[in-house]
Amino acid sequence: MAERVEIFEVGPRDGLQNEARLIPAAEKIALVDLLSRAGFRRIECASFVSPKWVPQMADSAAVMEGITRVPGVLYSALTPNLKGLERAQAAVVDEVSVFGSASEGFARANINASVAESLDRFRPVVAAARDAGLPVRGYVSCAVECPYDGPVAPGQVARVAAALSEMGCDEISLADTIGRGGPEAVDAMLGAVLEALPAERLAGHFHDTGGRALANIEVALARGLRVFDAAVGGLGGCPYAPGAAGNVATEAVAARLAELGYETGLDLALLDRAAEMARALRAPG
Ligand code: HMG
Ligand code: MG
Repeated sequence: MAERVEIFEVGPRDGLQNEARLIPAAEKIALVDLLSRAGFRRIECASFVSPKWVPQMADSAAVMEGITRVPGVLYSALTPNLKGLERAQAAVVDEVSVFGSASEGFARANINASVAESLDRFRPVVAAARDAGLPVRGYVSCAVECPYDGPVAPGQVARVAAALSEMGCDEISLADTIGRGGPEAVDAMLGAVLEALPAERLAGHFHDTGGRALANIEVALARGLRVFDAAVGGLGGCPYAPGAAGNVATEAVAARLAELGYETGLDLALLDRAAEMARALRAPG
């Protein structure tokens, strides 16, 4: 039987957060509902951050309330602090994520804190989420390169990943936020992180700015990773990472994984429909 690889769908969050047009909640809900039927185990569909920082995600509670939950699918959301966690719990999310950075420049730009301060801020969030029985992800942004500080040392990525794990994050998602990493740099980064954490605890989150995301995923597969974040239709970018293009497209990852002989459990025809819907959200009419 083919080995299973999970695609963690981040389109409704990472994909849409950066869109200039304020997308109505009903359109986001329609996208999540279509994705819910495509066979994902987890869909990141909300972000309980400051609405002043990311206006596009201000309607996250309405999105969570409006979606039709499919049993067995976990609906995930970003929670930068305790206020975010409270809002996420009120909206009955199934999994939460804190999001740190391996670089100081991006930590400051994205969450207005140093790396050390952000880890201190996450500790009570992760503890409270775990007390509430919620699984927790921890993102490490700029795991290869930072738009402010340049190349990031693999050892620094490993330290932040280990700190997130020690405070209780179940899974650590290693992000090439601006998509500038190539296979060699990604391999070196993974080599360092794998000295601290096993591959089963890691996910790869690749933006496709440089067109190398699929090659980077193959490197990560060879290193034993079996969870990859992707956004349907290749939506995405980060408002605080200038130059970051979309996430690698879910349908492209699913197709490549199938070619490589892995099983994703996804309905490729439904994925294509969702990709079409995602692209239309981006450029209506
Ligand atoms: P701050 O200004 O330092 O925080 O922002 P603050 O505590 O002083 O709060 C400022 C205001 O925001 C206050 O309101 C708070 O109540 C409010 P005011 O008194 O001015 O009216 N506030 C909140 N409101 C709603 N929900 C909350 C919340 N927290 C504070 N949770 C903060 C610090 C972390 C809040 C801010 O920097 C922020 O929200 N940043 C989020 C930026 C973001 O969402 N970036 C994109 C997601 S990360 C990403 O895309 C990368 C990823 O995909 C991986 C990768 O590719 O690298 C995950
Ligand atoms: Mg991202």
